[in-house]
Amino acid sequence: MRLPVGVFDSGLGGLSVAARILTTLPKERIVYFADNAHVPYGERPLEDIQEFALGITGFLISKGAKAVVMACNMSSAVALDIARESYPDLPILGMIEPGAKAAVAVSDGAPVGVLATSGTVKSGAYQKFIADLNPHLHVVQQACPRFVPLVESGKSESEEAEAAAHDYVSALLREGCKTIILGCTHYPFLRRAIESAAGPGITIVDPAEELALALQNILTERSIASDKLTAPHEFYTSGDTDDFATFGGAFLGRRIDTVEKATWGVDLGKRLASAVTTNDVNGDIN
Ligand code: DGL
Repeated sequence: MRLPVGVFDSGLGGLSVAARILTTLPKERIVYFADNAHVPYGERPLEDIQEFALGITGFLISKGAKAVVMACNMSSAVALDIARESYPDLPILGMIEPGAKAAVAVSDGAPVGVLATSGTVKSGAYQKFIADLNPHLHVVQQACPRFVPLVESGKSESEEAEAAAHDYVSALLREGCKTIILGCTHYPFLRRAIESAAGPGITIVDPAEELALALQNILTERSIASDKLTAPHEFYTSGDTDDFATFGGAFLGRRIDTVEKATWGVDLGKRLASAVTTNDVNGDIN
């Protein structure tokens, strides 16, 4: 099945996940959507994120997606269940479960730290998933509102990034954390600053690695894995296409030649969100 895998995020962050998918599954084609018009998601109300996630999933389906990856922890935390209800036949993967699994696997029993957006922290999603896997592990969450704007403005390698990383990571170290989850897909682009703030002996977990394996498994199980890359990857943004191409290419580690501007059907997202909350699910996206 040479149809693409849909991948989306509020902006550039999801490219850290796209890069991992392309390394693990080089025969898969991706269609990436960056909702730069609405970044950052992490400070928005839950209802907005649900509408965005449902509308964007519909957009990716309209581009042929055979599976969708929410390369956004915020969406995964608050919109994964609702999206799966709205699109029951489509494999939809989120970041939280793979991240929790990877952290529990490497943890030595010391507290696990989560760096995430305010919304993901508020959802408590990492705490819930980790407790399901190991109820004895203490989880410490740290909201990092300064991080996403730094990445989106190309300041991942700046003094500001170092100062922010120092503040956020210190809070986790004070609580005795030995494992730190990058609970937002923008944060791998700040990895150098985060690692240097953490110092030696701290394991940094990027959920993207486990996510790519989970995607590989589901594509294989459903016999929809691609045997050959036959067309170019596609990139869409609801924001500025030139900015996305410039920063995005650097983040993805490969040239992005074409970026198309797209709106993703906010009406569709609204309709599906209200259908799901009123228990009247209508998966028709036309
Ligand atoms: N990169 C996203 C995440 O993983 C969203 C960040 C944001 O827009 O606040 O949560």
